[in-house]
Amino acid sequence: MSRPSPSSVLLLGATGTIGRATAHELVSRGVRVLALVRPKPGRDTDPRALGLPPEVEVRLGDPLDGGSLRSALDPVDAATPRGGGASASMAGEGDAEDPTPPFDAVLSCMASRTGAPKDAWAVEFEAHRNVLRLAEELGATHFVLLSAICVQKPRLEFQRAKLAFEEELRASSLRWSIVRATAFFKSLVGQVARVQAGKPFLMFGDGTLTACTPIGDADLATFLADCLSEPARWDRVLPIGGPGPALTPRDHGRLIFEATGVEPRYRRVPVALLDTIVGVLSALGTVIPPLREKAELARIGRYYATESMLVWDGIAERYDEAATPQFGTATLGDYYRAVVAGEVRDERGDHAVL
Ligand SMILES: NC(=O)c1ccc[n+]([C@@H]2O[C@H](COP(=O)([O-])OP(=O)(O)OC[C@H]3O[C@@H](n4cnc5c(N)ncnc54)[C@H](OP(=O)(O)O)[C@@H]3O)[C@@H](O)[C@H]2O)c1
Repeated sequence: MSRPSPSSVLLLGATGTIGRATAHELVSRGVRVLALVRPKPGRDTDPRALGLPPEVEVRLGDPLDGGSLRSALDPVDAATPRGGGASASMAGEGDAEDPTPPFDAVLSCMASRTGAPKDAWAVEFEAHRNVLRLAEELGATHFVLLSAICVQKPRLEFQRAKLAFEEELRASSLRWSIVRATAFFKSLVGQVARVQAGKPFLMFGDGTLTACTPIGDADLATFLADCLSEPARWDRVLPIGGPGPALTPRDHGRLIFEATGVEPRYRRVPVALLDTIVGVLSALGTVIPPLREKAELARIGRYYATESMLVWDGIAERYDEAATPQFGTATLGDYYRAVVAGEVRDERGDHAVL
């Protein structure tokens, strides 16, 4: 049974791909959205300049800095933390005796832009923990976390950091919903330009080593927003993908050739090539520290070349498409056609390396 959504939500990661889609979804439902946006040189804080609906209230603050976070979200009590002194009882929003929380729920789409180990632990774990602690203190009731399905088989630092925060959240006093999403469309767009330039579609092995049910941005935003009002999604880990059937990299190639009208041409790349790159960078990283980060990025590439983004059946030791819940209507084929038509922009950013 659905219940009314919280009237006010603190949105983290609002300037990212899914955060932006979620801001639009929440505003369309009449929810008041506070977006915590970190300061960056030259950053315009007008919501429209950030690609957000004008109704979104942008709060500039750094979740890695406790003081900055508090001033952004609890300005009345920034000088004196709640329960910490006389000024705390001065005003409505920050009243320590009868506190009205500045937001009812947190919804996080925040994530490390690079996936590099140091940034991953800082953002996925530390920044989230800071916000969780403040949300508990301010009387919020629910925390919806966008996580990733790949944390079910953790091999990478960013996955360990995500899992560490999932544990913190589950142990907190708040109601929680942990949404472990499959691949996003933007992560599968890398080869469209290559194919349009007349080059073959590259695939590891025979192109069927992995499979996923990719999910569209707006569909995932709907799923996340529904977590606020659907009791069946409370205190649950929720793996979620888009509509099936599951697609292999060879299928991605086929859909790109269909969308571009280019004659299909595939080229196989051995996974062993990635093993060599990982091995060389890891060895060099022991003497040249900056290469350690590059080695981890190569490990990330290898992980996605060999692991499916479907629910893992630990007993049968295989990925299980049937056990991977599906949601939404947008398909990867539609997305590729929109990319070819110039209707969507490439949002991979630092992930373009993958
Ligand atoms: N890509 C996929 O296929 C996939 C699949 C499943 C799950 N996921 C997960 O889905 C989540 C969202 O992904 P996305 O692609 O929407 O992310 P994204 O586009 O990379 O956006 C990341 C957001 O986090 C913010 N952020 C990063 N570092 C920050 C910091 N130090 N302080 C404050 N904010 C910071 C960014 O703000 P700035 O604008 O200030 O940088 C941005 O708003 C991630 O947890 C990701 O792991 C991704």
